[in-house]
Amino acid sequence: MPVAYIDRIAEHDGKDVTVRGWVYNLRAGGKILFLLIRDGTGVIQAVASKADVGEARFQELSALTQESSLTATGTVRKDPRAPGGFELSLRDACVHQVADAYPITPKEHGVAFLMEHRHLWLRSSRQHAILRVRATLVRALRDFFDSRGFVLVDAPIFTPAACEGTTTLFETAYFDDKAYLTQSGQLYNEATAMAFGKVYCFGPTFRAERSKTRRHLTEFWMLEPEVAYATLEEIMELEEEMLESVVGRVLEERLPELEHLERPLEPLRSVRRPFPRIRYDEAIAILRTKGASVAWGDDFGGDEETLLAEGFDRPFFVHRYPVQCKAFYMQPDPEDPRLALGADCLAPEGYGEIIGGGQRIHDLALLDRRLEEHGLPREAFEWYRDLRRYGTVPHSGFGLGLERLVSWVCRLPHVRETVPFPRMLYRIYP
Ligand code: 4AD
Ligand code: MG
Repeated sequence: MPVAYIDRIAEHDGKDVTVRGWVYNLRAGGKILFLLIRDGTGVIQAVASKADVGEARFQELSALTQESSLTATGTVRKDPRAPGGFELSLRDACVHQVADAYPITPKEHGVAFLMEHRHLWLRSSRQHAILRVRATLVRALRDFFDSRGFVLVDAPIFTPAACEGTTTLFETAYFDDKAYLTQSGQLYNEATAMAFGKVYCFGPTFRAERSKTRRHLTEFWMLEPEVAYATLEEIMELEEEMLESVVGRVLEERLPELEHLERPLEPLRSVRRPFPRIRYDEAIAILRTKGASVAWGDDFGGDEETLLAEGFDRPFFVHRYPVQCKAFYMQPDPEDPRLALGADCLAPEGYGEIIGGGQRIHDLALLDRRLEEHGLPREAFEWYRDLRRYGTVPHSGFGLGLERLVSWVCRLPHVRETVPFPRMLYRIYP
């Protein structure tokens, strides 16, 4: 008997197939049993009659509980009234396990309870929708860079030094020495960009951030391109082209999922180039007119970013932040060295920063000054300093936080649902 997956069931209309899945719901109506079966690709209604499956099997199926596992064999029939448009007339079934009372029921559960049962919560249709959008975004991002001549060059996870500040490093024993979990692949990208011209890395990154907000994880995925000879302006253009492209792909391929999530589509449809660009100074002025008390030199947090986003219907850039609120590697603006040639890309609808990037210091003497000012050990950066000794050029790149992108695209209240098993300040189980 051919095995059919529910999302492709139409191809088997009128034929006998086997569906391998789990009980989603069961309803008994005298001599007939309606079983909703899910197989991970979709849900189908299977109808079993006592006459077709025999008394014993009918009794066995009647006793199935939610999430019991079974292999069901039957004839696929088109039925416009059935959810999904097809039904399975059951001929036989093999029950693999009768599930214990399932903890997640259609009634409302609190977030803490669901997080504790994340391994089971992943079976819900909402989590399917979100994680499918995530998978599509990952594919769209890779396609975007692969088709533009970028080479995927992975960065290590164990690192000897900090990239984004020493306060958020996870330290780990490394035999007789110590190492840190990577905060960003950027420094390694700078080496590979000098080798390949245009590169990107895409992998997990770690921050020991004691932030308990709706957008912070301690482990998150970052996509980081780096381009030799690129300026800040070029990298902002790359960012807007990338976002337009990948959001477009989600709109093409994941409409049912977005609808399931009740995600309004208009804000996604307006993700079109060019994105507005405002200088940090302008951002400060806007924030003050909105009554926020921000001092020049402060970095922005979620509240400020939400206020700024009120004025925009699409992602926008804030560029030229003061040097003191950005990382050590930022190239200063030649027109005003108090400012860094860096830009954050902020999502609309209150989602805040989804991308951080900019132009890197390419001059060795300046780099050395910054390492010193930031209290970073020169020995650990010897290899990075070499890049400024052997054919140094201006170069730029950025880091896109995947979970923040998914959170915004799906319009979720929190990033915790954008990753299968979120790692947060107070959560490392399951
Ligand atoms: O702005 P960040 O810190 O930039 C960098 O790490 C650069 N070295 C990247 C580069 O230029 N190659 O982080 C980049 C992005 C943020 O804009 C945000 O989307 C995400 O990473 N991010 C987080 N996402 C979830 N939880 C956290 N704790 C995050 N911290 C940063
Ligand atoms: Mg940032």
